Amino acid sequence: MKGSSQTKQSDREITISLQNVTISYGNSEAVRNIYCDIPRGKVTALIGPSGCGKSTILRSLNRMNDLIQGCSLTGRVLFEGADIYDPKVDPVEVRRRIGMVFQQPNPFPKSIYENIAFGARINGYTGNLDELVETSLKKAAVWDECKDKLNESGCSLSGGQQQRLCIARTIAIQPDVILMDEPCSALDPISTLKIEETMHELKKNFTIIIVTHNMQQALRVSDMTAFYNAEKLETGSGGKVGYLVEFNKTDKIFNSPTQKATQDYISGKFG
Ligand SMILES: Nc1ncnc2c1ncn2[C@@H]1O[C@H](COP(=O)(O)OP(=O)(O)O)[C@@H](O)[C@H]1O
Ligand SMILES: [Mg+2]
Repeated sequence: MKGSSQTKQSDREITISLQNVTISYGNSEAVRNIYCDIPRGKVTALIGPSGCGKSTILRSLNRMNDLIQGCSLTGRVLFEGADIYDPKVDPVEVRRRIGMVFQQPNPFPKSIYENIAFGARINGYTGNLDELVETSLKKAAVWDECKDKLNESGCSLSGGQQQRLCIARTIAIQPDVILMDEPCSALDPISTLKIEETMHELKKNFTIIIVTHNMQQALRVSDMTAFYNAEKLETGSGGKVGYLVEFNKTDKIFNSPTQKATQDYISGKFG
């Protein structure tokens, strides 16, 4: 209704909620005081200049930072209302429900078939593996290119195909959320467009959170955009700390941001 104020997103629409999250490496804060509610079934893009902490935040959402020595987090990350950092929570289970696709395609040095089947089997999948391999590769839009060579190594595929294989491998585990850290930055433009098309399909079944340095990509694929920036630490060490400047619908961020820094960043004044 025109003129009516927007209703607050209900909790049921939020899948991940960051509540006053600060992440440090050793004694040095990398990102500070982040509050952000990520809606379910949408694509959320994280943008901002290099070093502002996008990857750090993304990795905190499925406890991937646990694997980095010296990395610590305060605040809360709620997934479906429950704190994923609660001592009772198994990080492996968190990563099963919140999967991740990395910047460099990293298929296992196994057959295309096994790239999909391996993780599913480990996770106790009891259904038909052939079907799972086929549907996962189809959902990731790489089936046609793979169907006649399922026994060949995943590493024999092109970079773009490898990345779609990695997406297929991730969705075969049937996560709720897929995290993607600059998934196209190592790919050519045609492969990039294919991955973006794949994301439009995946959105029907998954929540996607993507880090991208490509603003056109954020515009093309995302519903929501979070703009992060970094400022100098008070310590005078020259180090910087990242923070969330603005989070809103993508068209709002790109067409009428409320913060000057957002405007400057999207118009290419820094980055
Ligand atoms: N493994 C790490 N160990 C120590 N510092 C790190 C590590 N990863 C990132 N950082 C630091 O955290 C800050 C944010 O980095 P990052 O999350 O990679 O930013 P972005 O993805 O936005 O480029 C940077 O200052 C970076 O040097
Ligand atoms: Mg990064």
